[in-house]
Amino acid sequence: MGLMKEIDRGTPAREGASVTLWIDGEPVSVPEGTSVMAAASHVERDIPKLCATDMLESWGSCRMCLVEIEGMKGTPASCTTPVREGMRVTTQSARLEKLRKGVMELYISDHPLDCLTCGANGDCELQDMAGAVGLREVRYGMDGDNHHDDAHAAPIDLSNPYFQFDSSKCIVCSRCVRACEEVQGTFALTIEGRGFDSRVSAGASFDDFFSSDCVSCGACVQACPTATLVEKSVVQHGTPTRHVDTTCAYCGVGCSFRAEMQGNEVIRMVPSKDGGANEGHSCVKGRFAWSYATHKDRQTEPMIRDAITDPWRKVGWEEAIAFAAERLHAIQSEHGKSSIGGITSSRCTNEEVYVVQKMIRAAFGNNNVDTCARVCHSPTGYGLKQTFGTSAGTQNFKSVEKADVILLIGANPTDAHPVFASRMKKRLREGAKLIVLDPRKIDLVRTPHVEAAHHVQLRPGTNVAVMNALAHVVVTEGLIDETFVAERCEAKDFQRWRAFVAEERNSPEALAETIGTDAQTLRAAARLFATGGNAAIYYGLGVTEHSQGSTMVMAMANLAMATGNIGREGVGVNPLRGQNNVQGSCDMGSFPHELPGYRHISDDAVRAEFEADWGVPLLDEPGLRIPNMFAAALAGSFRGLFVQGEDIAQSDPNTLHVHEALRAMDCVVVQDLFLNETAAFAHVFLPGTSFLEKDGTFTNAERRINRVRPVMAPKSGLSESEAVCRLARAMGYDMAYENPSQIMDEIARLTPTFAGVSFARLDAGPSLQWPVNEAYPDGAPIMHVDGFVRGKGRFMLTEFVPTSERANRRYPLILTTGRILSQYNVGAQTRRTENSRWHEEDVLEIHPHDAEERGIADGDFVSVASRTGATMLRAEISERMPQGVVYTTFHHPHSGANVITTDNSDWATNCPEYKVTAVQVTPSNGPSDWQEWRREMEDVHHRVALPAE
Ligand code: SF4
Ligand code: SF4
Ligand code: SF4
Ligand code: FES
Repeated sequence: MGLMKEIDRGTPAREGASVTLWIDGEPVSVPEGTSVMAAASHVERDIPKLCATDMLESWGSCRMCLVEIEGMKGTPASCTTPVREGMRVTTQSARLEKLRKGVMELYISDHPLDCLTCGANGDCELQDMAGAVGLREVRYGMDGDNHHDDAHAAPIDLSNPYFQFDSSKCIVCSRCVRACEEVQGTFALTIEGRGFDSRVSAGASFDDFFSSDCVSCGACVQACPTATLVEKSVVQHGTPTRHVDTTCAYCGVGCSFRAEMQGNEVIRMVPSKDGGANEGHSCVKGRFAWSYATHKDRQTEPMIRDAITDPWRKVGWEEAIAFAAERLHAIQSEHGKSSIGGITSSRCTNEEVYVVQKMIRAAFGNNNVDTCARVCHSPTGYGLKQTFGTSAGTQNFKSVEKADVILLIGANPTDAHPVFASRMKKRLREGAKLIVLDPRKIDLVRTPHVEAAHHVQLRPGTNVAVMNALAHVVVTEGLIDETFVAERCEAKDFQRWRAFVAEERNSPEALAETIGTDAQTLRAAARLFATGGNAAIYYGLGVTEHSQGSTMVMAMANLAMATGNIGREGVGVNPLRGQNNVQGSCDMGSFPHELPGYRHISDDAVRAEFEADWGVPLLDEPGLRIPNMFAAALAGSFRGLFVQGEDIAQSDPNTLHVHEALRAMDCVVVQDLFLNETAAFAHVFLPGTSFLEKDGTFTNAERRINRVRPVMAPKSGLSESEAVCRLARAMGYDMAYENPSQIMDEIARLTPTFAGVSFARLDAGPSLQWPVNEAYPDGAPIMHVDGFVRGKGRFMLTEFVPTSERANRRYPLILTTGRILSQYNVGAQTRRTENSRWHEEDVLEIHPHDAEERGIADGDFVSVASRTGATMLRAEISERMPQGVVYTTFHHPHSGANVITTDNSDWATNCPEYKVTAVQVTPSNGPSDWQEWRREMEDVHHRVALPAE
């Protein structure tokens, strides 16, 4: 349910030839396959309904939507009756009124009459429909057997932290069950029993929602027409009174939401049906995990201190900005212009990122700007630019609905990109085939009604070998799309690549042992990809965070081009971006070598454009990348850093090395919501804004530019971009905007792919997928349709070079890392919500054989040691991992997952090799050691000295 009601036509929209029919004498034309109910909604005939909603296929159980149709017997249900040419439908008559009233009477006779005190009062479809059919009395009385009397009422299930289930209010319409199946694809709910005993159940073997398979996406809550499934926040505070359209601040899916409010308080987040990325769906993070924005740990006042061992001193904005500017100036006077720099954040808006990179280039006077994408998707930028000519995914999310074969590599969408995973699962249930390349048996390998055709359970670090083996089969078995390649790709590069992958050393048989799988699986997967129809590649950090991350991105692009799977719906090469604005932060010129729009800093014409607009000369040499900044800090030449919304002290590899580098600096400025791990090394803290306070845009993984609108004023009194402008001004560069819309105007002026973007345009219409310019006035959902951005597609050679990080006798296991659904990245946000109930600590997944060999039982504490460092985790024995590989997440700082990751990185971009670390795992002592360890880790992380009051 949603208070600010979106139009609900009762059944999903259809595509197809137009059919004309008459509803109450009025003609209407709709696509064939449309229901009579949906057709009637187009001529504003709202047929009463209870079991139907346009997010779900029709069910036909409630009998509220009866109509009369000329030539048809009886009164058919309009939700299950498809339109026919020339059909004549009557939606209102005395007979229909009587029938509907009778049905409603039966429902109400078994429903508690507590509307006035019910949390959903005024926001309940049962209440609405009782009014719509004019029900005033219940002839059967309320005394018969019912589900709310003492004999039958079940206790309210309050186990889920965010919503409750009160079965006494259930009308058994099955919308929740169908939402869980059709929209979410989890199949957690069933209707148990028959007749009067029918009831919704979260699975026979579970006591409640929390212990069931439910992943708390909330689709059932949204679908429920009564207050049976309802948000606890609504029960507590009552129904919302206003709403603001905005965008989720978590992952790169970029779901659109209506923040439903009472005054300045968010009551609930409801995913928007017209959200291009999510079409009315969401996951537990976006829908429920927003309370961190008002968490008591939020810091809302600027703070400064002379040394990182001093306590923080709260000061006004002016003093904090002056202090930071003075220190940064002093560093530059003594050590030169290039001795300072900054890092932008993929959690901030495009406008906020743009001003930070501009401040660094124009006010700091150097190009020492980098972004957190360095540690996630920088190889995507490099690899796709080399092959296709632009650094972005090729498709919109909807495209997956047309895919026949999905090749999923190094990504775990059900945990990391849940809403896209639901779309993907839907397509797989319809019959598309799935190939999974992952060392871990992720959920999609086998989940209700979905089973991968092939799971290549490769050894971590052998991605490129797998792609070369697949390409070998395509080339040597005559599966190349010769027409596509001849028309669309550089011939010479293709021939070179063809000869290279055809070499016997790249055959599945030659590489099978290295990869850790059998040659037949590789051959079968290659044949399926090349011959199974539209084949699409989706990938995640399991591709990029390797020493050959960029090579792997190019290898995927090669395979897509060779098989002609580029430039239309259902195909493409698609990075699943981790953070909400990774695409945007890269687009906005966050890399040291590129100005906004991926234009090289050494290009005189491009630089001249920016110099004319910004009124300052710009350096023509790329600046330092993040790892170079740390190295220079330890060498003494880099001494000042501005860190925007990024916790590098926790998220970057080889944590202790990062800590040393931060400790070596004279001025670290942190702009963030919380005193995070990096703030422990900071001299200036500038309070940031949560997404609920931001005004701007995020760009998601499909290049979709979504508006983020403030639902409340900044708690710190200042927007992040204004704080940055003030710092730039204090540094001597005049940078000022009246509002973020002006920043976007400047971005559009200077960035060809954003030329047609403005807040006014985004506010007036749907979101846009860049490029938005003269060539693509309404954006481009699919890229490279008639030709590649670079002209012709370029095949690149992808020699497999094994990582130098090898297992040996001392470190015999390979550790790889990933995410879990309920937590997000370093957990700064989600750990401050009820989501932690699902994942209180990071655990180490280990194969039963590896565990047994070491005398480790499930739940034991174990020490995990690498060449870089050691940490302690609880073991979880799991057959998800192959023998020889262990796995953990990195959501909790005391787990120290990044204390043990190494300095190895991608050869082209320095993206860290998080996914391959040789480790030894040994039993450790019990909980007393654990407490000791947590204390030690707190020390390692140099916990924040509390601000002086
Ligand atoms: S919250 Fe989502 S996963 Fe859980 S029962 Fe409802 S629809 Fe299914
Ligand atoms: S819980 Fe809600 S959606 Fe599910 S069957 Fe009951 S009334 Fe319908
Ligand atoms: S899928 Fe991603 S963007 Fe969508 S609600 Fe979940 S976290 Fe937010
Ligand atoms: S709405 Fe048509 S039968 Fe329920």
